[in-house]
Amino acid sequence: MTKKILVTGGMGYIGSHTVVELLQHGYEVVIADNLCNANISVLECMSTITQKRPTFYNIDVCDKEALSYLFEKEKPLDAVIHFAAHKAVAESVQKPLKYFYNNILPLLNLLECMLVADCSNIVFSSSATVYGDPDGLPVKETTAFKKALSAYGSTKQIGEDMLEKTSAAENIKVISLRYFNPVGAHESALIGELPLGTPNNLMPYITQTAIGKIKQLTVYGNDYDTADGTCIRDYIHVVDLAKAHVKSCERMLEDKMESRYEVFNIGTGIGCSVLELINSFETENKVQLNYTIGPRRAGDAAAIYADVSKANTVLQWRAEKNIRDMVKDSWRWEMKLHNAIPQKTT
Ligand code: WQD
Repeated sequence: MTKKILVTGGMGYIGSHTVVELLQHGYEVVIADNLCNANISVLECMSTITQKRPTFYNIDVCDKEALSYLFEKEKPLDAVIHFAAHKAVAESVQKPLKYFYNNILPLLNLLECMLVADCSNIVFSSSATVYGDPDGLPVKETTAFKKALSAYGSTKQIGEDMLEKTSAAENIKVISLRYFNPVGAHESALIGELPLGTPNNLMPYITQTAIGKIKQLTVYGNDYDTADGTCIRDYIHVVDLAKAHVKSCERMLEDKMESRYEVFNIGTGIGCSVLELINSFETENKVQLNYTIGPRRAGDAAAIYADVSKANTVLQWRAEKNIRDMVKDSWRWEMKLHNAIPQKTT
């Protein structure tokens, strides 16, 4: 019997890559997305890649009535993967209420609908921001949370707490995946990151600077206590990240979980500095990047990268793509966006 998965935010960057992997692994997929940070064209692109068509509901997961209708219409749903949330860290500092409303209420609605519909499995899109600015590295899943540095990080801490306590009291099993820094794009260049307006994250800043959309990239500080003075992060290819969600669904649906609430760090386990990423981008893509060193950005941790041994051994998932794949796929996607496919070199 084909398993059916509801993917909230399935038209977004990580959501669309996960939908592609789910379809290619034989799952039936239902998407709930209000397109606030996604384009309807992504639906066709996912079908082109997979030759399959997910069911799409243009709804806001904050709308309990619309969500209840979807659960009634699509039952039985075997699992939910919950991506739908705002994720701009800097914006969340300026507009905390927007983030608490939009990132917490949908989770509440989802859990209530799941209980009514007897859907007992959910994979939650969590984040490395739950660790705050960690004391020790690499961070393990047991590393204690520090105070979140943004409202966005708080919503992920609250989300995990809601899910852990609900899983202890109700017929709901949960896997929370703590993403480190998702980058890259599908090799087809049909789907990728579509930042609306000025990007928030480093990689789209790099690619938009390289393509000329942004004049100059600013490196936010080179006076950190790191080898080259710039911040270290654990960049993870979005396709590897998508595959971790498929592995999580398999684990839940094949009843392999060791407890009702499980958490996994999803990263490569390898720290990479801003300058190292820039240098890799320039070398692999043979482009010169116009950048300057500027002041630090408030709220940035000097370094954070994952201990991924639990995901490797328990979830049986491991990142397969490296930094070179990430910078190549990101650049190919940016050029596709600007229809500037490089001339074939003879
Ligand atoms: C990375 C590094 C910046 C832009 C956030 C979220 C995290 C995840 C990924 C969702 C930092 C530096 C950046 C620029 C720069 N999202 N930088 N110049 O802040 O590590 O993580 O996005 O889950 O949860 O917290 O990502 O890409 O913004 O920054 O120097 O123009 O690049 O200072 O050191 P971040 P980022």
